[in-house]
Amino acid sequence: MKKLIIEGGIPLKGIVKVSGAKNAVLPVIAAALLSDGVSYIDDTPWLADVRTMCKALECMGIRSDFSKGLLALDTAGLCSTSAPEEFVRKMRASFLIMGPILSKMGQAEMSLPGGCAIGSRPINLHLKGFEAMGAQITLGSGRIAAQAKKLKGARIYLDFPSVGATENIMMAATLAEGVTVIENAAEEPEIVDLANFLGAMGAKIKGAGTKVIRIEGVSSLSPARHTVIPDRVEAGTFMVAAAATGGSVLVDNVIEEHIKSVSAKLQETGSSVEESYGSIKVSAGEKIIAADVKTLSYPGFPTDMQAQIMALLARADGCSIITETIFENRFMHAAELRKMGADIKIEGHSAVVNGKPKLRAANLSVTDLRAGGAMIIAALTAKGKSEITGIHHLERGYEDIYQKLAALGAYVKLVED
Ligand code: EPZ
Repeated sequence: MKKLIIEGGIPLKGIVKVSGAKNAVLPVIAAALLSDGVSYIDDTPWLADVRTMCKALECMGIRSDFSKGLLALDTAGLCSTSAPEEFVRKMRASFLIMGPILSKMGQAEMSLPGGCAIGSRPINLHLKGFEAMGAQITLGSGRIAAQAKKLKGARIYLDFPSVGATENIMMAATLAEGVTVIENAAEEPEIVDLANFLGAMGAKIKGAGTKVIRIEGVSSLSPARHTVIPDRVEAGTFMVAAAATGGSVLVDNVIEEHIKSVSAKLQETGSSVEESYGSIKVSAGEKIIAADVKTLSYPGFPTDMQAQIMALLARADGCSIITETIFENRFMHAAELRKMGADIKIEGHSAVVNGKPKLRAANLSVTDLRAGGAMIIAALTAKGKSEITGIHHLERGYEDIYQKLAALGAYVKLVED
């Protein structure tokens, strides 16, 4: 196992290019299953989660080939309607295979996706959509099977604007008979990106990115070529790192609109944020001003940036209240920040963060992907040597992160643990 050594106290300076979005490319890979032939996905980030998804599909007969950001998926060899258990348990997003396979093949089986560190992460809304479209669902000993000769269009109201449920139902509806309307749909940019790929394949989708998405089923879809959107969470992580280390970083390859809530929050805490076509420059202010944060579905402040902003506010001048409304257990990073001297009290869904002028270097462990971003930011601000273990979580969602940090002047080193 490796661990990451960070010598903190160095302001980050320079330019960093953001990779393609993990949470856009994973549903797009699943959507390729709806067609027969070779689809191409440009700007694919070569992440552990992408490799896991490709391995799961390879077990089902799909060939994948990756080089220099281009992922080719040949779905002509699809020979199974069952996603291998080890991958579904390992990565929740592989459950996105369910919708396409059920819709195209009339049946699908897979293990129930595991919960993870941040919450139980049920799939009831995914199943509600599939049943509304006529699928018979059977649950048993940790596995789930869905059966439907031909899915029928339906009107589906999502009790919560679940990103994954919106994606799974939207994909399944593309080959259903008739029209499906998803109400209270998620509006995240990754939904729009998926709808754009599906449209390029011949799907008829209207309203992606709004609360109501209308999908008119078609008889078949063709392979397509698509470039995924930049990763707004990676962008936000580097923006917060610039502010927290007292540096000045130009974050390149961003869609400013997608990260507006983080830009606004950074300005509120005293940073300067300059947007110019496709890049955002963040320069730290004289001091970090305390600010309250509430995570919400898009376009609200993203839950995937909550840990990172906590690492910034831990050194703010004053008290900040961070309220997590999306997941039930997404404050594990608070305990790690306390090891560095942060003053954070968890009260229900809120964290009360009393800012301290400095954090001290410490030995930290990463509990989940985005907490890993917070650990890195905190260690970069703390003078001295911090050691971070559990970095396999980081490699799930941040492409070339060590090289990108070093290019910004950070002292980071990977060593055997
Ligand atoms: C996606 O997860 C992202 N993952 C998550 O990013 C992100 O945090 C989340 O959306 C919210 O924005 C991918 O896109 C691969 P949800 P997803 O369904 O689809 C509840 C990261 O770090 N819910 O919108 O699983 C659920 O329990 C990851 O990149 C139900 O109750 O999120 C949660 O409380 C972490 N029933 C809330 O909705 C369901 O059927 C949001 O979940 C589905 C979800």
